[in-house]
Amino acid sequence: MLPDSSDIMALCRRRGFIWPSFEVYGGVAGMFDYGPLGCILKNNIVGVWRSIYRGEEKFLEIDSETINPRDVFKASGHVDGFADLITYCQKCQTPFRADHLVEGFCKNPDTLTPKQLEDTFVEHNVKCPECGGNLGQISEFNLMFKTSIGPGSTRTGYLRPETAQGIFVNYLNLYRYNREKLPFGVIQIGKSYRNEIAPRQGMLRMREFSQMEAELFIDPENKDWPKFKEVENEELDLIPNTTLELTTMTVGEAVEKGVIANRVLAYFVYVTKQFLTIIGVDPKRLRFREHEKDEMAHYATDCWDAEVLLSYGWVEIVGIADRGCWDLSRHAQFSGQDMTHFRRYDSPKEVEVSRVKAKSKAIGPRFKGRAKDIISAIESLKPEDVRDGKVFICVDNEKIELDDEFFEVISIKEKIAGDRVIPHVIEPSHGLDRILYSVLEHAYEHDNEENYTTLNLRPVVAPIKVGVFPLMAKDGLDEVAHKIYTDVCASGMEAYYDDSGTIGKRYARMDEIGTPWCITVDYETIEDGLNRGTVTIRDRNTKGQKRVQIKDIEKILERLLSGEIFDIL
Ligand code: ATP
Ligand code: GLY
Repeated sequence: MLPDSSDIMALCRRRGFIWPSFEVYGGVAGMFDYGPLGCILKNNIVGVWRSIYRGEEKFLEIDSETINPRDVFKASGHVDGFADLITYCQKCQTPFRADHLVEGFCKNPDTLTPKQLEDTFVEHNVKCPECGGNLGQISEFNLMFKTSIGPGSTRTGYLRPETAQGIFVNYLNLYRYNREKLPFGVIQIGKSYRNEIAPRQGMLRMREFSQMEAELFIDPENKDWPKFKEVENEELDLIPNTTLELTTMTVGEAVEKGVIANRVLAYFVYVTKQFLTIIGVDPKRLRFREHEKDEMAHYATDCWDAEVLLSYGWVEIVGIADRGCWDLSRHAQFSGQDMTHFRRYDSPKEVEVSRVKAKSKAIGPRFKGRAKDIISAIESLKPEDVRDGKVFICVDNEKIELDDEFFEVISIKEKIAGDRVIPHVIEPSHGLDRILYSVLEHAYEHDNEENYTTLNLRPVVAPIKVGVFPLMAKDGLDEVAHKIYTDVCASGMEAYYDDSGTIGKRYARMDEIGTPWCITVDYETIEDGLNRGTVTIRDRNTKGQKRVQIKDIEKILERLLSGEIFDIL
């Protein structure tokens, strides 16, 4: 049975993972703060992600501004297109996301136009869910938070709705840093902001949230990936937009059958699966769904969502998109900067090219002393500048129209060393808060009979790795336990010292926050004889215990944490 999200959120509040923001002032919907355990869990998830993208895949990392001038989002398309459809109740004035009100009446309501939504309201007699009042006209509501940069209101800025744009606007710096070679990847981890109309579903729809985004810049004609071979036989659960049916196939098959558009996209779909399962997302509750054609974002040519099954239903937690050349073309166009990449051929190619050639015999007698400048102006034109057999040139500030008596378009053979292309972008975009919540929900286990809660967090993400307890806070047991606690902390592992309550209660407190191991110092620890210097180490999942030498603790914990051994017994 799926757990209830309210139980998980209650645990998160009680034990210091997540708190509603500004609670003392009544709170604000869609805003949450991370408490001490939540912070460590979040950092541990980020650590795993970074170790994959920066460590294994060798992506570069940047940290860019969260407030951007309007130009950035005009170019990216967010000023004109990043909106949800809103309607207000005419009686109580509550705002609603219009598509949310028709869920259950139609498929993919977020793809409907305002007119289609209004028709659905009428057809199904949809009223305000709060007071039953009539709903008003539907309009677009841009989700970006708007602000002013500096005093006055002359410079409009927006809080970024995705971290990705910070990478695109730094593309030229990054390209030069990478010595003008493709492919190269860049990551950014940070806050994004979306003024969601009606946040619901707890941590899943926040107004301020964290993203971990990777942007891989590649040659548009080479969407292969060197490490593809390593994963081609691995399996993925996919829902292609052609069949809309869940099907399991290998990464290799998915590309061969054209289900996933190209090898590099497929490789990063698999990397996403690997990352999510390492941190504890249940692979049986994970699938990849391809966006339907009318669902695809304005920039995407193919897009797959990693969806997980939560108590709320299937929820997108990562989007993996082939953004084509959208971003760089737009920023090149709006900034006037050249963002092309020179692609050098293995050996120069002979190609047939069209050129505009001046007819000097006609130009000389007609333009006399100006003929040289006229010829040079004509020959700097491109064939596409010829319109209806005529061209315009500008010489000495004079605009001159010439017909084909003075020029011709010819075909010539030229040797070229390469060509210029706008790189394409493959983007795995991770919502950190949704991922963190999924990890919590998939780890949550509650035994109703015993009224006992365990968070089966993977050791790599568990905020506290080891609980250290003296059986009694006296007779020197506390001193030995405290020394073990300090040594474990010094070895770089988060530990928690607890000497209050029964030992059962102390284990329960650790199980509830997902601590994988507990060490207990008891009277045998300090007894003379064979057992001198030993403690028990307890495993959260099996509840099994083993007596080990104090001197071996650090080594055992290291082996457990690295996955070299799974079980203490
Ligand atoms: P949805 O359709 O659920 O609103 P989206 O398609 O708008 O999501 P993207 O724009 O693809 O999401 O954003 C990339 C990732 O950022 C998502 O996979 C998700 O994990 C996260 N994300 C997006 N919006 C929010 C939000 N309001 N709160 C928390 N995380 C979010
Ligand atoms: N960068 C993808 C998104 O946030 O929508």
